Amino acid sequence: MYEFAKVDYPYVKKDNGCRLVWTDPHDNDKEKVIYLTQDDLSHLHTVLSQKSTGRVTLEDNAGSIIVNESESSFNIKGDKPLTVKTSVLAEKFLKFIEDHDKVIIKCTEYVPSQKIGEVDVKNKLLSAILTSETKEDKLDTDLFHVMATRRSTRKFAEKQIEDWKIDRVLAAADTAPTAGNFQGFEVFYVKDEKVKEMLVKAANNQPYVNAPLVLVFCKNPSRVKLNFPPETLAKFAIQDATIACAYSQLAASALGLSSIWIGMIDEQKVMDAIGTNLRPSSILCIGYPVQKRNPRPRRNLKDLIHVI
Ligand SMILES: Cc1cc2nc3c(=O)[nH]c(=O)nc-3n(C[C@H](O)[C@H](O)[C@H](O)COP(=O)(O)O)c2cc1C
Repeated sequence: MYEFAKVDYPYVKKDNGCRLVWTDPHDNDKEKVIYLTQDDLSHLHTVLSQKSTGRVTLEDNAGSIIVNESESSFNIKGDKPLTVKTSVLAEKFLKFIEDHDKVIIKCTEYVPSQKIGEVDVKNKLLSAILTSETKEDKLDTDLFHVMATRRSTRKFAEKQIEDWKIDRVLAAADTAPTAGNFQGFEVFYVKDEKVKEMLVKAANNQPYVNAPLVLVFCKNPSRVKLNFPPETLAKFAIQDATIACAYSQLAASALGLSSIWIGMIDEQKVMDAIGTNLRPSSILCIGYPVQKRNPRPRRNLKDLIHVI
């Protein structure tokens, strides 16, 4: 028997809907989630805020919600109804809406500077971005030279980054290998100055987080559709997000840009700042360096490598 637990954000807040979660009190791992779209949410809000009763038909006829005076039931096609006391639902739902309105961030769709025809053809946009002709003299196409010369930067010049370079840095993340190729990560490309300031605070007040290009890499284990325990999927997602960030970092160097990887973050503050329910793994801050510096020393390769 599932008990109503909470109203929560959808995984990506741009959806502007919510998740209603029921849990099994005898088994922490078991839960049932009903996803409400923005329209569903606003219909339910109308009923509950007016303290009335009624029926909400979910978008695409996925099911319905019946709000009665004492109990409400959520009827999703092909599943047993989930119930909750109407007073409990109203309290949690209205509180969610109140908080939600305070923090809502509208993500918009990423529009690359490349204009190409049918972008829905798999990888066409990605290939176009990665292989487009460029007059740029600073483009370093020798991977090993990029590796040998990369150096982190904490002082960025005011100079704007060209759109095509941003496209490439983002596209590089999309080329990273991921567990089962499920791409268990998301990239938040932060343009909003206020959000950048919030990220500075979320990163222990490291001021250079407010960089010309700020990318937040988040884990999204729910994308990893492999039949393994949740801990394994979580491990895959952090590895996916980390490799993608490293790919973008190397791409930035190849483009004559510099970056700083930020791992010292308060995860919840980052999530609040960018408006997601997904846990961040790192922030990558990119720009033109004020000064180009030599790479930092590393361990002797002989000490690092252990031959077995
Ligand atoms: C997992 C990880 C976390 C890091 N976190 C921070 C950070 O929070 N703040 C910062 O200034 N640098 C951070 N860095 C950058 C490292 O300090 C930097 O990469 C290291 O000193 C080596 O310098 P290099 O990148 O120039 O080779 C982080 C790097 C990694 C890989």
